[in-house]
Amino acid sequence: MPRITITDLKKKKAEGKKITMLTAYDFPFAALVDQAGIDMILVGDSLGVVVQGKENTLPVTMDQMVYHTEMVVRATRNALVVGDMPFMSYQVSCEEAVSNAGRFLKEAGAQAVKLEGGASVRKTIEAISAADIPVMAHIGLTPQSVHKMGGFKVQKEMDRLLKDAASVEEAGAFSVVLECIPGEIAKKITQEISIPTIGIGAGVHCDGQVLVLHDLLGLFERFVPKFIKRYAHLGEEALSAIRQYKEEVESGGFPGEEHTFK
Ligand code: KIV
Repeated sequence: MPRITITDLKKKKAEGKKITMLTAYDFPFAALVDQAGIDMILVGDSLGVVVQGKENTLPVTMDQMVYHTEMVVRATRNALVVGDMPFMSYQVSCEEAVSNAGRFLKEAGAQAVKLEGGASVRKTIEAISAADIPVMAHIGLTPQSVHKMGGFKVQKEMDRLLKDAASVEEAGAFSVVLECIPGEIAKKITQEISIPTIGIGAGVHCDGQVLVLHDLLGLFERFVPKFIKRYAHLGEEALSAIRQYKEEVESGGFPGEEHTFK
């Protein structure tokens, strides 16, 4: 199966077929996500929180994003890989934004980039798209604006959200993430714009869904927002395996004969 393209995603929206997306940050997990047939992998700057253990995504750097994206691309054959532009990699100028977006494709081998913002980043999306780099937009709760928003809050201003969605479509984005907005507003946006909407905490009417892989697998416990569904409890299983190893080493149960060279 060839790698999913942005044309395939448009076709899915036109045919009413749901689009699947998950985050991944390294080779083994990206390989599993790809094997499962997920359409898109986002190498999210959420890695600052779920991999690096930081409080928010603001400290993540371009070099770190390129490093992780390159591992993910190497593990995948089918999913479209989207590199997430970190805080301050696209806000200073359109020139810097294009150059940083280019690094995701040139150095890491990604097929697209994502950046946060609506009408306010219109010119940036236009500039990156003009360099033939597919851009996914991200509106609603935009975690890089945590301090301006006064925390991680559900975004409910319908007029502003509709305007943001129309702006990113007009600017040339191929898709848009809708994060933490009421289901009815997400439905209206999804009906009004022609590019696929990918929801996270935005209800069932989006064209597709995205989740942070560590949340879905039960590998991140620090906070669990309402919109997360845990499909596994890998953290608990890993803890029990590590405890068993400790106990067996201490009691002489490991290594056994079968693990010993003759
Ligand atoms: O960084 C990330 O993982 C994201 C998703 C939550 C959409 O932006």
